[in-house]
Amino acid sequence: MSPALETLLLPFSQGEIAAPSRALFLGAEPHPDLKAWPQVTGWQPLKPLAEAWEKAGFARVDEPSGTWPLVLLLPGKSKDETLAAFAKAHDLLEDGGTLVVAMANLGGAQRFEKELEKAAGKIASLSKHKCRAFHAVKDGTWDEALLAEWRALGVPREVGGFLVEAGVFSADHVDPGSALLVENLPKNLRGAVADLGAGWGYLSKAVAETNPAVKAIHLFEADARALACARKNLGEGNFEYHWHDVVAGVPGKYEVIVSNPPFHTGQATDIHLGRAFLRVAAAALRTGGRLLLVANRQLPYEPELEALGLVWRKPVENSTYKLLFAEKRMGTSNDFRR
Ligand SMILES: C[S@@+](CC[C@H](N)C(=O)[O-])C[C@H]1O[C@@H](n2cnc3c(N)ncnc32)[C@H](O)[C@@H]1O
Repeated sequence: MSPALETLLLPFSQGEIAAPSRALFLGAEPHPDLKAWPQVTGWQPLKPLAEAWEKAGFARVDEPSGTWPLVLLLPGKSKDETLAAFAKAHDLLEDGGTLVVAMANLGGAQRFEKELEKAAGKIASLSKHKCRAFHAVKDGTWDEALLAEWRALGVPREVGGFLVEAGVFSADHVDPGSALLVENLPKNLRGAVADLGAGWGYLSKAVAETNPAVKAIHLFEADARALACARKNLGEGNFEYHWHDVVAGVPGKYEVIVSNPPFHTGQATDIHLGRAFLRVAAAALRTGGRLLLVANRQLPYEPELEALGLVWRKPVENSTYKLLFAEKRMGTSNDFRR
């Protein structure tokens, strides 16, 4: 359980705020204390966390609406995303309702508390677990001009011809690793393609534009906001969109898999996540199929490809990134649950 989540609920366990009849939790993560609350509805764009929330027995919505006496907020990592979330939370509060936010100190809790204070005026806060929880009441005096600025930060903006929303991966530029893969994409791809961790659709679009023999492209992405952007960027056509945790495996078999695998969970480097992507890719490739990867140069993916029985080569490497192209030859056996 994250320290920010523990801290978020302290104002309630310490009696500073009474648990209300209904609450909306933006960035919802399950906590045993919430079980005692009469009604908590969660919004969570990240599939693994959304699944954990539902598995714990809580109600979830794809898009929050209406107004609520209490909004709990665990914001994401980026500044624009957090400020936009403050405005969204404000708009989802009833008059007289309370917004409670918690953030890690290292994630800029103090700075963001000050930002919220600029809009809300009066803020109460407490500090614990290297995090801060701060709350404000929607009392009719919030700074409307500032809220309008923050709302605008949540509207998808254009990045290199794509629509991209604050908070998703690479929200203000094309990832240079992905650009390197696109520059070196083979032009003879055919059949069904999967894009694992597809983000807002950059790799899928390049595959579609440069490979007319490709029949279908399946985009698998954990972040619902990124996937919604991908849908806007690519349209329907030959694309299929899956809000999906790739670590759990993917349905179907593919002639080609492209990926710039994630290697972070929250702030921390998580090499297991990238390795899991490789295992899932190997299991989903047809015999003769190709895996086209880009990765940061220092990530040790070659031994994993080797262990999965894929035949690989490194066609391009620069000071930061490498491309790894692998093939599943006849007789290769692999199982991503290994
Ligand atoms: C390095 S980014 C690449 C994004 C996109 N392909 C591009 O080139 O811009 C990795 C993507 O994987 C997604 N991701 C992280 N964990 C995931 C998971 N368990 N299942 C599916 N996608 C995941 C992230 O949200 C992110 O969009």
